[in-house]
Amino acid sequence: MEEIKQLREMMKSYTAADEDFDSDMNHDLPKPALVKYYEGSKRISLPKDFEKILQNNNFYQLLTNRKSHRKYDEEAISLEELSFLLYATQGVKDVLKDKTVTLRNVPSGGAIHPFETYIYANNVSGLEEGLYHYLPIEHELEQLTLIDFFKETIAEAFLGQTFLTEAPVAFYWSIIPYRCEWKYASKAHRVALMDLGCVCQTLYLAAESISCGTCMVGAYDQEMADSLFGFDTTPGEKKDAEFLLGGAGVGRRPQ
Ligand SMILES: Cc1cc2nc3c(=O)[nH]c(=O)nc-3n(C[C@H](O)[C@H](O)[C@H](O)COP(=O)(O)O)c2cc1C
Repeated sequence: MEEIKQLREMMKSYTAADEDFDSDMNHDLPKPALVKYYEGSKRISLPKDFEKILQNNNFYQLLTNRKSHRKYDEEAISLEELSFLLYATQGVKDVLKDKTVTLRNVPSGGAIHPFETYIYANNVSGLEEGLYHYLPIEHELEQLTLIDFFKETIAEAFLGQTFLTEAPVAFYWSIIPYRCEWKYASKAHRVALMDLGCVCQTLYLAAESISCGTCMVGAYDQEMADSLFGFDTTPGEKKDAEFLLGGAGVGRRPQ
């Protein structure tokens, strides 16, 4: 019961009394890096000409047709389509204030954007199969070295939800919690979870607009999944800590 009580409190916003919370920002500590880079990795630039792939611009239809798709056509998705989905969900439109703030296609409390996006390309034309990390400012992918058995084990880590590995591409989002804790201290976590909802719904609608389908996945074994991504699984308050928050399979909707 005590745990439920604490978790409910976590969901609540601050009260006027603790509005000036004790955050590192209020103590003038430096703002953490906006994005993560895997130094030395091979970079792949992504096309940004989306006009020719957008098939449905009717917002009402997108909204009402949206549903979770867990079965996908065997056909590959194109690099342009993957590029569009990455741009829609995390792409940067503007970099402000001496490169300390990004404005993106999705909103984020305090414009913090605490997530990193990883994709596993299973069947994307023009992209070698494997794991990649998205660079939202440059709109590029970094090709990552796979941990042994990644492909064999990731579906198990996601509790046997094999549609992730059967999909032409799977999205995985991690969070670097210190990015939002720096500003919002103990109220950061509720804001971050709301942020992920924005990313998730944007992926659904963006996929729908290019005749693809997606399904968000929030159920997985945290430690197993984090190990596959090479994240440090030790609990604690490290400023560079990163862990997985969810995933999604994406592919063309079956005819
Ligand atoms: C945060 C979140 C987590 C979810 N996790 C899973 C999941 O682990 N596995 C799954 O098959 N579907 C998952 N879903 C999809 C929901 O089951 C689905 O949205 C719900 O059944 C309603 O169906 P609809 O999306 O077709 O309207 C998740 C959806 C959200 C928004």
